[in-house]
Amino acid sequence: MDKFVVNGQNKLSGTVQISGAKNAVLPIMTATLLTSGKSVLHNVPHLNDIKMMAYLLRVIGAKVDMEADTMSIDSTHCSYFEAPYELVSKMRASIYVLGPLLARFGQAKVSFPGGCAIGTRPVDLHLDAMRKLGAEIDIEHGYILAKSKKLVGTTIEFPKVSVGATANVLMAAVLAKGTTILKNAAKEPEIGSLIEFLNLMGAKIKGKDTSVLEITGVSQLQPAEMKMIPDRIETGTFMIAAAITGSEIKITHTIPKLVASLTNKLELAGVKIEQQHDSLHVLPNKKIIAVNISTQPYPGFPTDLQAQFMALMCLAEGTSKIEENIFPDRFMHVAELKRLDADIQVTKNLAIIQGVPELSGAPVMATDLRASAALVLAGLAAKGETVISRIYHIDRGYEKIEEKLQALGADIKRVKG
Ligand code: UD1
Repeated sequence: MDKFVVNGQNKLSGTVQISGAKNAVLPIMTATLLTSGKSVLHNVPHLNDIKMMAYLLRVIGAKVDMEADTMSIDSTHCSYFEAPYELVSKMRASIYVLGPLLARFGQAKVSFPGGCAIGTRPVDLHLDAMRKLGAEIDIEHGYILAKSKKLVGTTIEFPKVSVGATANVLMAAVLAKGTTILKNAAKEPEIGSLIEFLNLMGAKIKGKDTSVLEITGVSQLQPAEMKMIPDRIETGTFMIAAAITGSEIKITHTIPKLVASLTNKLELAGVKIEQQHDSLHVLPNKKIIAVNISTQPYPGFPTDLQAQFMALMCLAEGTSKIEENIFPDRFMHVAELKRLDADIQVTKNLAIIQGVPELSGAPVMATDLRASAALVLAGLAAKGETVISRIYHIDRGYEKIEEKLQALGADIKRVKG
């Protein structure tokens, strides 16, 4: 297994270009299953999760090709309606094939996702909503078996906001008979992006960027072509990389308003940020002031930046509180940050971080995707060498992170293992 070796305390400088958003691409890839023909996606990042989804689509029968950052998916000859355990256990987003397969072929068999490093992650909201649309759902031998002659539109109110359930239900409802109203839907930009793609395919969805979506079912869709939005979590991770090293960097090919919640918190922490239309300029800061965050659905502070922000708060002046409201157990990075001399106490879903003047390098282990990013950030600021093992997690979601950091002047090496 590969490792990163980071020698900390280098200043960063220069420009970094943001890649396409993994979490926007994954559901859009499965949306192409809703019709036959060839769809084309631009600005697709080269990531393990994307490769795994491409593999799943090929298992189902689609033809998937990738050239540079353009992916084409021809879903004309789909004939195997199953997401096997081996894939779902590695990538939970495999559940996204449920809605499209059910809507187009009236059947789907998807392995029941298990827990993962950030806690138990149920799929009850996905399944309850599919049942409301008229699907028959059984759980047998660890698999979700879904069947339906014809899905029928209805009103569904989610008891809590779920990105995945919103995406899955959208993809099921676009071909249903009649109108579906989704209340308390997720407003994440990646959902907005999926809605845009589905509408390009010929779907009739109103309410983008709001929590009430109205989907009028159509009898047929056609393939579509679209550029994927930039990754707001990668954007935020590089903003924190500049802040934690007191550096000045420019972040391009991004959409600043998608990281507004982070920008606000960084400014409160004393970091100056200039925003242009599609870029951000983080200016060097002398010190970091402790600020509190509380993770919330979009437009609140994203849980996917919680670990990285915690790394920054480890070096802040004062005490900060981080409340994790989306995945209450998402604190696996705490024990690793403590190995670098951070001072953090966790009670239930609340972490209290007493800033320290310096972190010191140590061997640490990546436990999940965003936790690994937090460890890289802490390593960039720590004195001496930090060796981060199990970085396969980071390869799932950050395109060429070490090359992008090296180009900014960081001392980070990948050691093949
Ligand atoms: C997506 C993102 C993930 C991000 C998360 C929250 C992708 C591929 N992943 O994950 O990076 O951290 O949104 O922004 O886009 N829940 C239920 N029942 C369900 C579904 C969810 O109780 O059926 C709960 C979850 O346990 C969690 C909350 O709802 O507490 C939000 O989860 P959800 O938005 O569904 O996350 P994902 O779509 O899995």
